[in-house]
Amino acid sequence: MCGIVGALLERGHVLRGMIEGLRVLEYRGYDSAGVAVATEDGLVVEKRAGRLEVLERALEESAFPDGRAGIGHTRWATHGPPTDANAHPHVAADGHVAVVHNGILENYLELREELAGAGVEFRSDTDTEVLAHLVSRELAAGGSLADALRRALARVRGYYAVAVLKDDGAPEVCCAREGPPLCVGLAREGTWIGSDVLAIVPHTREVVFLEDGDVAELSTRGVVVRGRDGAVVERAPQRVDWDAADAGKGTWAHHMLKEIHEQPDVLARTAFHRLDEARGDVRFDEAGWSDADLAGVERVQVVACGTALHAGHVLRYLVEGLARVPVDVDFASEFRYRAPVLAPGTLALAISQSGETADTLAALRLAKELGARAACICNVAGSTMVRESDAALMTQAGPEIGVASTKAFTAQVVAAYLLAVRLGRARGTLDEARGRELLRELRLLRPSLERLLSSESVARVRAVAARHKGVKGFLFLGRGVNFPIALEGALKLKEISYMHAEGYAAGEMKHGPIAMIEEWMSSVVITGAGAMAEKVRSNIEQIMARGGPVIAVGADEASLALADERIDVPASSEWLSPILNVIPLQLLSYEIARLRGCDIDKPRNLAKSVTVE
Ligand code: F6R
Repeated sequence: MCGIVGALLERGHVLRGMIEGLRVLEYRGYDSAGVAVATEDGLVVEKRAGRLEVLERALEESAFPDGRAGIGHTRWATHGPPTDANAHPHVAADGHVAVVHNGILENYLELREELAGAGVEFRSDTDTEVLAHLVSRELAAGGSLADALRRALARVRGYYAVAVLKDDGAPEVCCAREGPPLCVGLAREGTWIGSDVLAIVPHTREVVFLEDGDVAELSTRGVVVRGRDGAVVERAPQRVDWDAADAGKGTWAHHMLKEIHEQPDVLARTAFHRLDEARGDVRFDEAGWSDADLAGVERVQVVACGTALHAGHVLRYLVEGLARVPVDVDFASEFRYRAPVLAPGTLALAISQSGETADTLAALRLAKELGARAACICNVAGSTMVRESDAALMTQAGPEIGVASTKAFTAQVVAAYLLAVRLGRARGTLDEARGRELLRELRLLRPSLERLLSSESVARVRAVAARHKGVKGFLFLGRGVNFPIALEGALKLKEISYMHAEGYAAGEMKHGPIAMIEEWMSSVVITGAGAMAEKVRSNIEQIMARGGPVIAVGADEASLALADERIDVPASSEWLSPILNVIPLQLLSYEIARLRGCDIDKPRNLAKSVTVE
C-alpha cells in the first residue's frame, strides 16, 4: 500500500534517486511522503502530508542536505491520519535511527505502552514509531544494526516491509520483510532498496527479492541476507526485464489512458508467442502446465480481489465452456474465512496483477493447506504469489501505474482464454481443428482492439460521456461471459469518477434493479450474442419503456439500433467479446472522470496494491 525506497551508495548523492523512486512508487499510496538522509552532521528528516510535490517543495525551501545513505517513503495511512507527524520516516528518541514501514504492527499498542512506561515520548500516532524506538534500544544493547533490527522484529507481531537507517558513525542501512514485498538492487554505485522493482530499475536490473523472515544488511558492494535465526541465506539476484521508461506516461495525459491504449500490444505480448497453430494448442513453457499436470485437474477454484476477481468470473465461463472443467470463483477475502471445502483434484488459481494482494495470498495459502495445487495468473515476476505457486502463468502487461486496473485485466482475460484452450486440449474436450479456430480468433482480436482505440471510436465514447456525466447513477448490465464485464464497468466508473454505479447480470434486472430506472439513471447494456442477444434486447426495451436512457455497447445491431446511444464494438467470437467490450467501458469511465475533474491516476482513498487486509 505504501512505497519504500532507500540506498547506501559508495559516494555521492542519494536524494535525487530517492525522490525519483518515490515518484514511481506514489501510485502505491499517496497521502504523505518523507525522506531521511545520513549526512556528516547527522540524520536529517523531512516529511509532509499531501502529495510528493509538497515534500519536494519543502526539500527545496529548506535546502535539504544530501548524503550517501537514505530511506524514503510514500504513505497510505493505516494508523493515524495523514499528517506531517504521522508521515514516515520515524526517528528514535536518540535521533540516530530512522525507520520506514509498509504493513501493520498488530501488537504496537502493547509495545507503545511498555515504551511509554520506560519514558519514551511518542511523536506520532503510528505503529511504525514503536519500531524506531525498539531498534534504537536494541542497538544500545550492542551488535550491528541488522542484529538490533532482528531482535526488535522478534518482539513484533504483524506484516511489514521495513527499512532502517542509522547515522551514528558510518551510515548503515538494513531492511526486512514479513509479508509486503521488498527487494534489493545491486548497482554499480551502491545498493538500493525498493518495495517495488520499479524504484530500482533506473539504477540496476540485478535484483534480490527478499523472502518472509529475511533481514538484509546493505553494503556499498551488495547485500548479506540472514533468516530469522541469524544464519546467512542465499538469495540469488534475478535479472528483471521491466524498463524504467515503461513506468513513465510519456506524452499521455494520464497513465490510465496510456495503459488503455497499450492493450493491443499487451494482448500480443501475453499470447502470440504461445500460439501453436499447427497443433491447435497453446505452449505453456513454464513448469506445471503439461498434459500430465493438467490431467488430474477436476475443478478450478479461483481466488482474487477487485478487477482481478472479475477476470476470474470471465475465466469461469471460458474454462467451463471450452474445457468442461467446473470452476468456482470466490472473493479471496471471503474464501479465507469461510472454512472452504476443496474436492480432491482442485487447482487453486489466484489471479493478481501485483502478486502481493494480502487476501489473495492468504486464500492461496489456505487452498494449499487444504491440499490443492496452487497456481497463479500474475503480472509481476518474482512476486510472492509467483514464488509460492506450483505453476505461474505470467501476463505481459508491463508495469501498471494507474490505480484503476485496465491493461492488467485484459491480460488476465487473455491468459484465462489460453488456459481454457490448454486445458481443453490436454483433457480432450477440444480437438485440433477447434483449437486452431480458437487461436485464429484470438489473432483477429488485435486489429479489432486497435479499431476500438482509434481516435474516431474514442471521440464517440467521449461524446457519450459528456451527455451522461451529470446523471444520478449508472446501471451496468451484461449476460453470460459479459456479465463480469458489467461488474468491471461499474467498478471502473465508481473508482475514478466517484459516481454511483452497479453491475448486474441482465437476467437479474427484474428482481430488483429495475426499480431504480428513471430519467437520471443511465443504463449501460452490453449486447448479447446468439441466444442471449434477444434476451438483452428485451432488457433494453424494458428500461426504455420506463424512461431510462440506455447506452448499448457491443456488436448486436438490433440492440444497438434500439438504444438511445450506441457504442459499436467489432464482432468477434462470443468467448473473446469481453476483451473488446471492456475497452469502451474503460474509456467511458476515463472520460467521465476527466470531465468531472477527478484525479484519475490517483483516485481518493485507493492504493494500487493492497498488501494489508
Ligand atoms: C481496480 C483495481 C483493484 C485490484 C485489486 C486486486 O481497478 O485495481 O480492484 O484489481 O486490488 O489487485 P491485484 O490484481 O494486484 O491482486
